[in-house]
Amino acid sequence: MASPLSLPTGLVSPRLCVRDVQEADLADLLKFNAVDAVTQFLPYTSWTSLQQAQDWYSRMQAMADLGAGQQYVIVDKKTQCCIGSCLLMRFDAASARAELGYVLSQDYWRQGLMREAVSTLIEQAFSVWGLARLEAEVNPRNTPSVHLLERLGFRREGLLRQRWLAKGQRYDTAIYGLLADEWLNP
Ligand SMILES: CC(C)(COP(=O)(O)OP(=O)(O)OC[C@H]1O[C@@H](n2cnc3c(N)ncnc32)[C@H](O)[C@@H]1OP(=O)(O)O)[C@@H](O)C(=O)NCCC(=O)NCCS
Repeated sequence: MASPLSLPTGLVSPRLCVRDVQEADLADLLKFNAVDAVTQFLPYTSWTSLQQAQDWYSRMQAMADLGAGQQYVIVDKKTQCCIGSCLLMRFDAASARAELGYVLSQDYWRQGLMREAVSTLIEQAFSVWGLARLEAEVNPRNTPSVHLLERLGFRREGLLRQRWLAKGQRYDTAIYGLLADEWLNP
């Protein structure tokens, strides 16, 4: 069954297209998920094989089948390569909320690209799907991610102490929230 958050045709912005992930994207996704600088603040270790990418894809498909979220890729319009990914997860239809996540290839950092990609997704989430709230959890040491969220208008709502245990480390996460009204009527 198609996820309620599916974007089969994609959201187009000046430099990018954000659309549902497909199995054919995995080779591109492996390239940047294999880089330690990229996965440093993510809860998984760098990918080392296409099999890991395929296992991840199966998990993303299962999430979509349950209606619990949707994984997207960020395509560079010039080259048609996937240069990043983003997702909505922990979708709660009754409360009209979901959690946002994102990853960008290191070659493309600091060019405003994730802001461009996520802005189109947020607009879709609030204006078309009628979500009321988006949330994000971030390691407070992840400066680029904190800056991105704050630039998008997310507000820091609290610190969840020692919330995650990943890669042998226990760490705090800051919780960020953005309300539809704040985005649509700034
Ligand atoms: C977080 C990430 C997606 C940011 O992507 P990006 O395309 O480089 O971000 P943008 O260029 O859109 O920048 C957004 C804002 O953050 C700021 N920013 C980005 N990187 C920064 C850095 N290293 N230090 C300070 N500010 C930074 C930008 O200046 C910009 O603010 P501005 O518009 O006021 O100048 C990217 O660094 C990444 O993929 N990191 C690894 C994966 C990850 O940690 N994901 C998040 C898990 S919670």
